[in-house]
Amino acid sequence: MTRKIKIFDTTLRDGEQAPGCSMDLEEKLSVARQLETLGVDIIEAGFALSSPGDFESVRRIAQTVKNCTVASLARAVKKDIDIAYEAVREAVNPRIHLFIATSPIHMHYKLKKSPEDVLATAVEMVRYAKRHVSDVEFSCEDATRSERVFLATVLKEVIKAGATTVNIPDTVGYATPAEMAELISWLRAHVEGIDTVDLSVHCHNDLGLAVANSLAGVYAGATQVECTVNGVGERAGNAALEELVMALNTRADHYACGTRLDTTQIYRTSRLVYSMIGQTVPLNKPVVGTNAFLHESGIHQHGMLAERSTYEIMTPESVGIPVQSMVLGKHSGRHAFATRLSELGYALTAAEIDAYFETFKQICDKKKTVSDSDLEAIVHNSAFDNTARYRLENFDVHSGKESTAVSVICLGNGKGSYEEVSLGDGPIDAAYNAIDKILNMGTNELVTYSINATSDGKDALGEVVVKLRNGERAVIGRGLSTDIIESSILAYLNAANKLLEMR
Ligand code: KIV
Ligand code: ZN
Repeated sequence: MTRKIKIFDTTLRDGEQAPGCSMDLEEKLSVARQLETLGVDIIEAGFALSSPGDFESVRRIAQTVKNCTVASLARAVKKDIDIAYEAVREAVNPRIHLFIATSPIHMHYKLKKSPEDVLATAVEMVRYAKRHVSDVEFSCEDATRSERVFLATVLKEVIKAGATTVNIPDTVGYATPAEMAELISWLRAHVEGIDTVDLSVHCHNDLGLAVANSLAGVYAGATQVECTVNGVGERAGNAALEELVMALNTRADHYACGTRLDTTQIYRTSRLVYSMIGQTVPLNKPVVGTNAFLHESGIHQHGMLAERSTYEIMTPESVGIPVQSMVLGKHSGRHAFATRLSELGYALTAAEIDAYFETFKQICDKKKTVSDSDLEAIVHNSAFDNTARYRLENFDVHSGKESTAVSVICLGNGKGSYEEVSLGDGPIDAAYNAIDKILNMGTNELVTYSINATSDGKDALGEVVVKLRNGERAVIGRGLSTDIIESSILAYLNAANKLLEMR
């Protein structure tokens, strides 16, 4: 019988705490819903104590998600545990995830505690967390640089105190696959009670080994693996969920274990997370990159035509990469539109379909055919404008080789229309300056700007993602149009609306 490995997704905690990966409440909720559809076992929804925003998003995710355990991270401190409990307590299956560092470097320099104090705190805090919930995970931060006998003692004692999962993080991505496998085997052989709990691995990618180390841990007997969608996370990130899961699936003959995930939801989940954090998929990203299933060389194409398995170890369908079977256009009605979205796996409400259909119709006025990737872009880019304070009513932008770019922007907010003219270094700069004049919200710093065509061809939709900072706050904005100046304006306005909303 194949072992079932639990997938613990920490995109919304370890992933989200990475610079440039922050999401707002609605964005986190939509990622959590998609993770539920994907079928992960545990969603680590955040670190409830870290901010009121994090607390609220953990609480809302705990209320919303029904088919996964929902966890909050907490330091081994009573206040953290109380707040983590408050945030997750309405979940169908709540978990508190406690951690304390166990390596000499961390205990000495960061915690300034002796190993004896760390052990006592760990045991006391696991007992304390158990008063709140039955499902308590305990992590030894920097476990792979900890002294083995001490690590084993901490694990044995926290298991006795009631921890139901113990986690071995490679916090700084220092381990090698052979070391990870050996450590997991050794712990299984030397820690009393370890077979009564889940043994988890949590690997960072500083040396590009996070997935390899996690798989080595699983091979050696870990029963839970912690990961993030697209491998997002601090520094070089965490183990990538899609790579782990597809390695376990594709090489089931080797690993002899599986997960409960619906792998056909992987591509959609990956796209959603990239779009939420305003990043584009690297072309050669394993499993979900645009080139991951492309075969350009003649020899490969010849082999593929003869028999797919010559060069394909998994199929694009198995990860849910849409196979284009129909294109929509000007004459497609709401029914065909809704049917195609549902075939693509989107479970949308009637109100959402109405909103997207409106965008779709506007796009059809400018573009003959709308492909699946265009449809996905519509869903990912128009979802967050429902609460827009300011909408784009009109724009007029001029630029030329010998002339200064000038723009006229007209925005409406339901109370009136506001128009401003501005110059700039280029058409987009001029448009952004005019928006700033209208919104008058202090200095907006454009941190990043990226543009991506959603499909091939000259009439492709341009998807613009910007990161905008105002004071302490930074948000992502998205815009979509066949006109890249318009998508640039929409993205900036989307971000500015979010900043205004936060005030
Ligand atoms: O990397 C790490 O050590 C962590 C723990 C808090 C689990 O993220
Ligand atoms: Zn981590």
